[in-house]
Amino acid sequence: MKSRHLLLAGAVALALAACGKSEAPTDTTAPAAAPAAAEAPAAAPAEAPPAPAAAPAAASSKPAVVADCATTVEANDMMQYNADSITVPASCTQFTINLKHTGKLAANVMGHNVVIAKEADMAGIAADGAADPATHVKAGDTRAIAHSKVIGGGESTSVSFDVAKIKDGGPFKFFCSFPGHLALMQGSIQVQ
Ligand code: CO
Repeated sequence: MKSRHLLLAGAVALALAACGKSEAPTDTTAPAAAPAAAEAPAAAPAEAPPAPAAAPAAASSKPAVVADCATTVEANDMMQYNADSITVPASCTQFTINLKHTGKLAANVMGHNVVIAKEADMAGIAADGAADPATHVKAGDTRAIAHSKVIGGGESTSVSFDVAKIKDGGPFKFFCSFPGHLALMQGSIQVQ
């Protein structure tokens, strides 16, 4: 009985070995199937572009609420404005931005202001204004179309400017020129 089992086992082993060997030659025909598989990856990238295209839209903009040629932007202790876009109605000749600091930190620690300028001038205005803690805009800096003073937690201020000044030559931005805040505290401002 034992010898029979061994024989059977041996036969199975041979059969398996034969199968293994018989499959090997068929691998030479595999290359024919490979090109077909290569077509699948090619189709995937074609579908990919729509996703990135949807991403910018998903990075939701926070438009400021505008009424009567004015808006109120809030700033907090987390170094954030509550808006990243201000659309000024073309019918306005003057526009006012009210800035409300909803935080608790003092102006010398977490000061905020709002400056209107060309996007290309933002960094220079903030750098040159670092020495003046009251405004963080250097006196006589004509690159600043308009700017408010710097306020601390619980305070409010406002700045008004001629809308004509931001109609051409943009893109324009509103931003905080307090040292280190520019990266997070900025938004677009446009006339429409
Ligand atoms: Co700030």
